[in-house]
Amino acid sequence: MSAIAILGCMWGDEAKAKIVDYLGDTADYVVRFQGGSNAGHTIVVDGQKFVFHSVPSGIMYPGTKCLIGCGVAIDPLGLVKEIRNLEASGLTFTKRLCIDEKVGLVLPLHQELDAVNEVRLASSKIGTTGRGIGPAYADMTARTGIRLGDLGHPAYLKQRLKELYAYHGQSLDAAALREVMAQLQEAWKVLKKYCMSVENVLSEAYISGARIIFEGAQGTLLDRTWGSYPYVTSSNTIVDAVGIGSGFSARLLDEVLGVFKAYVTRVGEGPFPTEIHGPLAEQIRKQGNEFGSTTGRPRRIGHFDAVLGAYSARLNTLDGIALTLLDVLSGIEDLKICVGYKLGGKVLTTPPAHPLDFNKIEPMYLSLKGWEEDITGVRSKEDLPANAQIYLEAIEDLLEVPVKVVSVGKERDQTFKIDV
Ligand code: IMP
Repeated sequence: MSAIAILGCMWGDEAKAKIVDYLGDTADYVVRFQGGSNAGHTIVVDGQKFVFHSVPSGIMYPGTKCLIGCGVAIDPLGLVKEIRNLEASGLTFTKRLCIDEKVGLVLPLHQELDAVNEVRLASSKIGTTGRGIGPAYADMTARTGIRLGDLGHPAYLKQRLKELYAYHGQSLDAAALREVMAQLQEAWKVLKKYCMSVENVLSEAYISGARIIFEGAQGTLLDRTWGSYPYVTSSNTIVDAVGIGSGFSARLLDEVLGVFKAYVTRVGEGPFPTEIHGPLAEQIRKQGNEFGSTTGRPRRIGHFDAVLGAYSARLNTLDGIALTLLDVLSGIEDLKICVGYKLGGKVLTTPPAHPLDFNKIEPMYLSLKGWEEDITGVRSKEDLPANAQIYLEAIEDLLEVPVKVVSVGKERDQTFKIDV
């Protein structure tokens, strides 16, 4: 396969980076195409933990080039810190990172607006990561946003900053303008060598037959249009965002791999039909270390939801599933998979579009027997306990997509492929 997209298929945190890392050792390019520093992609190698927010996780492999497409929202000050921290852990960036000059910038102003908006929304707040993502994407849509390439044109940048602050009714006196300009110029000194046209790099890469991985951030249920609106992020996360956010048409993808956890989690507010409370949720949260990599918030836990799973599989035209954190379910006597929703006397097999209905639906469950064994050492489907194989096959049948990759632990080698 020369071009593959690896996408989160629920509410994010599906361990996408682990799968990118697993399949990425032979990749020539790893490309981010949406989201920003709201993402927290974690990889563990020999006990050392690496967390990525805006940098593609392919930076782990010295032979791989990493591209940040124009659909990503970059916090330039945060990105410089991220690069410095990763360099301190021994990773190299020279001639390996390209950032599209068209990426929209997340400025300190956007982070302030994000916090203010959440307070204003009060009881209907979104529970954002506080990284300024929503206001930054809103500015790009409103055409008031500032792009990376603007940092190379100080007079133009100054004018755009004045207009941006005026648009938001925020004061920006001469001293404050000097300070923002100084911060951005400092970041530009580091970032300018990485700034180029990502679509040109990708177009040449494709012609030369390079192996390209598109690394999704967040997940389908957080897509700003197709997710559980309004409790979503502000970028599109589904497969079609590959083209919009990188210039490489999704039509050219050879494979789309959807990443699902063996159960479901979500951080932030919003509907969660299969949410579990009490000791079982605690057990899974502890076993799966379900705390946000960006904000440290405890994640909400739920049973696998095959209605949302099938919706996600369809929207993303999945060719395969990567099922992660299967080991976390060891020791649970009865497992449940949601196969339908009841709403006002009707049975739904697709998610409702309106948030008020989303809150009213009652999940209908298929019950399956669990398994006791520790499976963290298993490296093939055949070696999984019979009940774990049945659970995995139930997901395949309900989503009508084969499971091609399974992960049973944090470490790089605790992942295996299934031939289909
Ligand atoms: P924002 O993207 O910071 O605006 O947050 C909007 C919603 O998306 C909130 O519910 C966040 O918790 C959620 N979210 C954003 N990024 C991630 C992620 O990488 N993983 C999981 N949830 C996320």
